[in-house]
Amino acid sequence: MTAPDVTDVNVFDQAAARHLLHLWDDQQSAYVAHRDLRFEAMTDVLRLHCPDDLTILDLACGPGAISDRVLAGFPQATAVAVDYDPILLRVARGALDRYGSRAEVHDVDLVADGWEKALAGRSVDAVLTSTALHWLAPEQLLRVYTTLARLLPAGGVLLNADHLRYDGSAPTLRDIASRHDARVQQETFAAGALDYSAWYAEAARHPELAELAAQRERRFADRPPQALAPLDFHLAALRTAGFAEVGTVWQYLDDHVVFARR
Ligand SMILES: C[S@@+](CC[C@H](N)C(=O)[O-])C[C@H]1O[C@@H](n2cnc3c(N)ncnc32)[C@H](O)[C@@H]1O
Repeated sequence: MTAPDVTDVNVFDQAAARHLLHLWDDQQSAYVAHRDLRFEAMTDVLRLHCPDDLTILDLACGPGAISDRVLAGFPQATAVAVDYDPILLRVARGALDRYGSRAEVHDVDLVADGWEKALAGRSVDAVLTSTALHWLAPEQLLRVYTTLARLLPAGGVLLNADHLRYDGSAPTLRDIASRHDARVQQETFAAGALDYSAWYAEAARHPELAELAAQRERRFADRPPQALAPLDFHLAALRTAGFAEVGTVWQYLDDHVVFARR
């Protein structure tokens, strides 16, 4: 678990951003039991399928957890990270600064038409995303998948890690997964991880980030959580979007890493 911050909150530098990224990783590990295994499955696919000098698109990057892992593990890789939360974008910019021109961070609303223009036509070998696409309604998800299918070259891959909940046809599994989630959260918070709201409160101790809170609230005001789409929906939507091969590369209870290849 990450140690408490001892830096001056008035200075939002790379060290402060990286500290918030580590606190975010601890926090997310409470909601995603085997989060690092998810990321390992994703990077294994990249290692076995993509060139060493790959470019990834980190979709809904948050503070840059995926980009940080890819840029650290693949010294010739480039990451283009996009998100719509101004606080998380600011943290990602600071946390990924150490990678210089290998990291780019863009302000993008995945629900807006033409969001992909932020990529300025650059070629991408793989799109990676985690714990994010459940924010999108089913029709928005299909639109994003279709845009990604157009964006990726033949052979390019999409990896989406997320809880894809069991539906009413699997009540026992749904109950087990839900009780497992509750237990992991209880244990991880007891070990000192911040919860989601407490992480934002910690970020807001930095005046530079606190100033972005109102903008964040406005941006996400009319975006209620969506009905959760099960695995079958994702696989069908990916096929409809134009991906040639779809499947699952990792699963733990209802947590999946879904794979799709152009
Ligand atoms: C739980 S976080 C996950 C962040 C990161 N991928 C991770 O696993 O640590 C979900 C992210 O989705 C982003 N998001 C939600 N709706 C979005 C949208 N319409 N456009 C871009 N990003 C969005 C949020 O801002 C947030 O950063």
